[in-house]
Amino acid sequence: MPVAGAGMREVLGARTGKTAVQKTERHPVGAAVTKGSSVTRQPNGQNHSRVIAIDGPAAAGKSTVARHLAEDLGAMLFDTGSLYRAVTLAAIRAGVPFTDGRSLAGLAEDRHIDVAPPTASDGRLYDVHLDGEDVTWPIRDPSVEAHVSEVSAHPEVRAALLPVQRRIAAAGPVVMVGRDIGTVVVPDAGVKIFLQASLDERARRRHDELRVRGDEVTFADVLADLQRRDGVDSGRRASPLRAAEGASVVVTDGVPLLQVVERLRDLVLVAWRHDGEHEETAAHSQCRPSRL
Ligand code: DC
Repeated sequence: MPVAGAGMREVLGARTGKTAVQKTERHPVGAAVTKGSSVTRQPNGQNHSRVIAIDGPAAAGKSTVARHLAEDLGAMLFDTGSLYRAVTLAAIRAGVPFTDGRSLAGLAEDRHIDVAPPTASDGRLYDVHLDGEDVTWPIRDPSVEAHVSEVSAHPEVRAALLPVQRRIAAAGPVVMVGRDIGTVVVPDAGVKIFLQASLDERARRRHDELRVRGDEVTFADVLADLQRRDGVDSGRRASPLRAAEGASVVVTDGVPLLQVVERLRDLVLVAWRHDGEHEETAAHSQCRPSRL
């Protein structure tokens, strides 16, 4: 499975803005689903129908689900949280205050951040490089975890990281994971998913993950940290975490993640089939002689 590479100096100035009609259905495994799909074109002709946007709160299972989905579909995987984490790590090392949005955005523009296929089998889903250094695990350090929400809340930082995300989206097919992919980065993505799980379930999953990695953190601490991050991610003024218009809201409480992957794959294939039919019809009507 290819992983999207993000050269931070490359800039793409795509403009977006189309939304989709929304309708509600019940998820087959009992979760509430708000479903919609859109096949739209950018005013500049860009087609994002092959972008799968997966948003949702921390520890909802987005990365794992996205990795399997990307593998199944032969799509790229791009976890945009790694960009914000890399900027936070760069800020810690450079001593840039987490309150200084403009300097943090300067770091985001000047440093070279790359997300590439995994080169080690140590549990990583992809490699992250900061100015050529492998920072895949350092960006998961508690010191980064503690400040990344604050760093990512600055509108200047978000603006600095937007072009590279849109450049990757333009290269599709790609599964993009984040908090604002469906609302801001690629609002006309062919499939938009909001992965949700209760705080308790997410804390349990994250606690299990950390213990497997040898972290002796308590469940109560994990839960409190997730609650704090939820507050910052959802409460910030710039691109707050919320389900995009037309997104399928998939609640994963008690559902094995592989079952979630199947459900999402079905949603994608239906949307892509619909898109293919739409393209065929459009091609057909274009070929029709004008006098008919
Ligand atoms: O998904 P994650 O835990 O790696 O994300 C790290 C932080 O980055 C998290 O606090 C939310 C923020 N983020 C964001 O604001 N927008 C995104 N598209 C991705 C992540």
